[in-house]
Amino acid sequence: NWKLTNYIEKTVAEIKEKVGTQKVILGLSGGVDSSVAAVLIHKAIGDQLNCIFVDTGLLRKDEGKKVMENYGKHFDMNIKMVDASERFLSKLAGIGDPEEKRKIIGNEFVYVFDEESKQIEGAKFLAQGTIYPDVIESQSVKGPSAVIKSHHNVGGLPEEMEFELLEPLRELFKDEVRKVGEELGIPHELVYRHPFPGPGLGIRVVGEVDAEKVRILQEADDIFIEELYKNDLYEKVSQAFVVLLPVKSVGVMGDERTYEYTAVVRSANTIDFMTATWSRLPYEFLDTVSSRIINEVRGINRVAYDISSKPPATIEWE
Ligand code: XMP
Repeated sequence: NWKLTNYIEKTVAEIKEKVGTQKVILGLSGGVDSSVAAVLIHKAIGDQLNCIFVDTGLLRKDEGKKVMENYGKHFDMNIKMVDASERFLSKLAGIGDPEEKRKIIGNEFVYVFDEESKQIEGAKFLAQGTIYPDVIESQSVKGPSAVIKSHHNVGGLPEEMEFELLEPLRELFKDEVRKVGEELGIPHELVYRHPFPGPGLGIRVVGEVDAEKVRILQEADDIFIEELYKNDLYEKVSQAFVVLLPVKSVGVMGDERTYEYTAVVRSANTIDFMTATWSRLPYEFLDTVSSRIINEVRGINRVAYDISSKPPATIEWE
């Protein structure tokens, strides 16, 4: 595709020109936008790019390991992984309100990122995977979902940081970002990952969050996603995940009575994430997912499927 090749060549040249011999910092999240931005910038300036990956402890199962393998090893990028899980979990202890959790996670992220970026001496640029819809969203009156929830990763540049911004994807729509990503050699599976909210599992463990609940949720979510891939359904839905409820119910396992958490399987189909319908996943598939979660995840003995559309429900539970 010559148009994409042209875009990449032009952008690489522009980045080289703008950055010169300076250092660039980028917060890698594992998501599509920051990954494509990173690979593009890396192509232009190699080791002058310093990526910071903050493991909030609220990411999907093995996310940190996967990011290091994909981008550190495969693309040979300079990545510092910061394990901040304990910091995030201790700040969240005892907090049940969704907006308060969002604020805590967003603020903590900025603190950690700020601390880490100070370790990278002489960095002049901060790169971000801002794409065209983010630019529009931050200019216009915020949409209903932004009013209802503070989406912390839009325009999340800490005010006091004195960096010049580098945003090589600012003119692209999501589908174009994906095409650029594939053209750059990022594996298809990574480029077509579902979006993941900034606060991560912090808002998918409903109510108070702790390490044990996060572990349970990670296991269950991983099974659901694995089954979606296995059954060729992953790319047929827009966003899919598991939510852990703070509700225990009674079950039986062998001759024993169990009293454990309830997991909700959620999958949505949408074009713009402003409205969405629940995915009509096959019963047999849901049965497999439910059986596997209950049998394999210690701590869950009941699985429900969310059949609410947006509006009036939202895609996330918090
Ligand atoms: P809702 O739940 O509002 O979600 O229907 C719409 C889309 O936004 C994502 N979402 C968030 N993303 N920070 C984010 O970065 C947040 O606080 C947040 N809340 C919701 C959600 O995953 C879905 O894709």
